[in-house]
Amino acid sequence: MNKKLKILLTGGAGYIGSHVLLRCLEAGYEVIVLDNLENSSRESVRRVEHLTGRVVHFCLGDIRDAENLDRIFTEHQVDAVMHFAGLKAIGESLAEPLRYYDTNVNGSVTLCAAMARAGVFRLVFSSTASVYGNQTEMPLNESSPRGSPASPYGWSKLMVEQILEDLASSDPRWSIGTLRYFNPVGAHPSGQIGEDSQGEPSNLVPYIAQVASGRRKHLSVYGNDYPTTDGTGVRDYIHVLDLADGHLAAMDRLTQSTGYKLWNLGTGQGFSVQEVIRGFEQACGQSIPHRFVPRRPGDVAQSWADPALARSELGWQSKLGLDDMLADHWRWQKMNPTGYTKK
Ligand code: NAD
Ligand code: WQD
Repeated sequence: MNKKLKILLTGGAGYIGSHVLLRCLEAGYEVIVLDNLENSSRESVRRVEHLTGRVVHFCLGDIRDAENLDRIFTEHQVDAVMHFAGLKAIGESLAEPLRYYDTNVNGSVTLCAAMARAGVFRLVFSSTASVYGNQTEMPLNESSPRGSPASPYGWSKLMVEQILEDLASSDPRWSIGTLRYFNPVGAHPSGQIGEDSQGEPSNLVPYIAQVASGRRKHLSVYGNDYPTTDGTGVRDYIHVLDLADGHLAAMDRLTQSTGYKLWNLGTGQGFSVQEVIRGFEQACGQSIPHRFVPRRPGDVAQSWADPALARSELGWQSKLGLDDMLADHWRWQKMNPTGYTKK
């Protein structure tokens, strides 16, 4: 691995970005974080600095601000970008599609244009397994058909994927890797950094964690009539630190070739909602009150990855299991019942 790379992390104060930041610093990269703190806290970056004993150059700003991007690329000799900044709440995207397209699509275009002006052509992009939409054939590999995403959020990711593919075909200097994450959960085992859910969580594990800590009364399980082993939805949960390692592997690979590449980052194993509840009960030593309610619109019955391409091309595979994810998630929740309190 080239330890001298200088990387710009957009959205580096967020849940996944902060874990990748930690891994990048541990690997010896120099890192600049650009984040407008719209859905995160400066405290996450401070805690990563504390955990690693390294200093991060933090820029408060928006990815849609082209002048600010030009300034950052002029001031720092950036070699590559990892692009996490964006909005990710599916329900919110249905209510505010323009805000989502502006941040996720326009923001990505603005970023790529600034990169090209600065002569920086190496990019890792955060996409999602929800671009596969509703598929019956499992596992999902990179050649599985892209579906019809159920939300503007999903569409915004699919649009950016297409834009990046077109960009790489237009100019051979680009080296772009899209990573389709399955369901990231967990936290750093120190309990110092983790997912700071604002308001009522829409994702399963953060919701269960808030039920376990007494912040919510019970979990609503969306549907128990799916064609799965126990009738509840099945997903490929992946530890956020395994996911972070996948980014370093992808970046390493992008330094060796140009063009557009796509990799699924998942474990290859699916767990039902009921299995996750039982796993969390073991992790926290208490029962999770839950009740079955109708299916959530837009949900798919099952989704899990075929991670073979990432294994063969990146030499990456997940190492941590569901128990690790849930234990680490619970530790973070217990130690930070209200998330990062300092802004
Ligand atoms: P997050 O909200 O914790 O992090 C996103 C970060 O981007 C936040 O720190 C936020 O303040 C910042 N941001 C938002 N708009 C910005 C803007 N205009 N300019 C600068 N910064 C801005 O989310 P996350 O879970 O860490 O997700 C990171 C990326 O991964 C996102 O692009 C998300 O869509 C994608 N993703 C997440 C998941 C998941 O389940 N968490 C799954 C698949 C893909
Ligand atoms: C998992 C399972 C639910 C909450 C979404 C996005 C994806 C990515 C991750 C951002 C499903 C069930 C959930 C609850 C429940 N995000 N559930 N009760 O829907 O697979 O993926 O988040 O990029 O793009 O689509 O994740 O954690 O919301 O749901 O029963 O309160 O848990 O029905 O079966 P999902 P999830």
